[in-house]
Amino acid sequence: MAISKRVAGIQPFYVMDILSRAKALERQGRDVIHLEIGEPDFPTPPLVAQYATDFVRRGEIRYTPAAGLAELRQAIAKHYRDRYGVQVESERIFITPGASGGFLLAMALLLDEGDKVLLEDPGYPCYSNFVRLFGGIPSLVPVGASTRFHLNSEILSATWDHRTKGAVIASPSNPTGAVLRPDELKALVEELERRSAFLISDEIYHGLEYDEPSPTALAFSDRVFVVNSFSKYFGMTGWRVGWLVVPADGIDNVEKLAQNLFISAPAPSQYAALASFMEMNLQELEQRRRVFQERRDFLCDHLQKIGFSIKTIPSGAFYVYADCSRFTSNSFDFALSLLEETGVAVTPGKDFGKNAPESHLRFSYAVTLDRLAAAVERIKSFTQRGLGVRR
Ligand SMILES: Cc1ncc(COP(=O)(O)O)c(C=O)c1O
Repeated sequence: MAISKRVAGIQPFYVMDILSRAKALERQGRDVIHLEIGEPDFPTPPLVAQYATDFVRRGEIRYTPAAGLAELRQAIAKHYRDRYGVQVESERIFITPGASGGFLLAMALLLDEGDKVLLEDPGYPCYSNFVRLFGGIPSLVPVGASTRFHLNSEILSATWDHRTKGAVIASPSNPTGAVLRPDELKALVEELERRSAFLISDEIYHGLEYDEPSPTALAFSDRVFVVNSFSKYFGMTGWRVGWLVVPADGIDNVEKLAQNLFISAPAPSQYAALASFMEMNLQELEQRRRVFQERRDFLCDHLQKIGFSIKTIPSGAFYVYADCSRFTSNSFDFALSLLEETGVAVTPGKDFGKNAPESHLRFSYAVTLDRLAAAVERIKSFTQRGLGVRR
């Protein structure tokens, strides 16, 4: 079939090779510990499941307004007041099918052919693909430990050219878990505004922080685009519900896009998401956050003891991005043989960009502490046996 050049340019995720091998091993009866996973391991919170069930039983499952249920948009506006002390009019909040739906709307709104968008490298791989699909040019900017794996206003100025239209950042970041400080985020927002450029701030891992809470870009400007989701902190990946906050003068056009691109986010999921902000649910999420924190401490400590180097201890999300150059110069091969020999699946750095991917692996701690302990033992013996030694 003759497919578009834009689609032909999209790379499949390398972790899919790992995943399909892991599945094959499992079919043979091998026990695989999945540290390549990008979603929380907890079930849907009970209150959320209850809300969804009640709604589905009533049977009136129809389209909602394209921008989403008014009650949910108001609940999110209240969330900004309660959590961040920031005033956001509910009319600026669009309910989307996950954060992914938010990216779709924002990129469709903002990009023209040939527009360059600055992206942090390493970073979430889908940003580049969204940019490409709308005719833009992803510009991967290498970021490292010296800026805790984030763009800052100096890097932004140094990489700017006349075709640059804006930037996407994610804090806490996938894959590094690194969090921007408020002063850094403020400087970035101001620098982009000075250049009349857009900022899309991906705040999907907000709430999953273990040191300082992340500031929202909305605290510094009402011109930024903020993408968020019920997938990670709220533990609702499969429900496909998230949100996008847009500047007031973007509302009409984003509404038009939402009507055309997906009509509305799934109605049962929007009703379910309403329960997310209830006190009982927030308490449950806080307990889960503490569990993640305990796992982070455990995993970072043990990976370092084994000989991996963690240049920035992750402060959020549920990933550790570790340097494996002591053991290998090819993290993809390392990941494959680690899986083959020990049954531990991890994500190779090359899924996150072009900045030293061969010396990095992403370990997710979305598994129980017991499984994490077993994984660490297997990884240790793998490296001690010299199986992962540089080739
Ligand atoms: C940084 C980041 N942004 C966005 C997404 C997409 O999330 P959603 O499930 O809300 O579409 C992910 C999913 O892993 C992610 O890691």
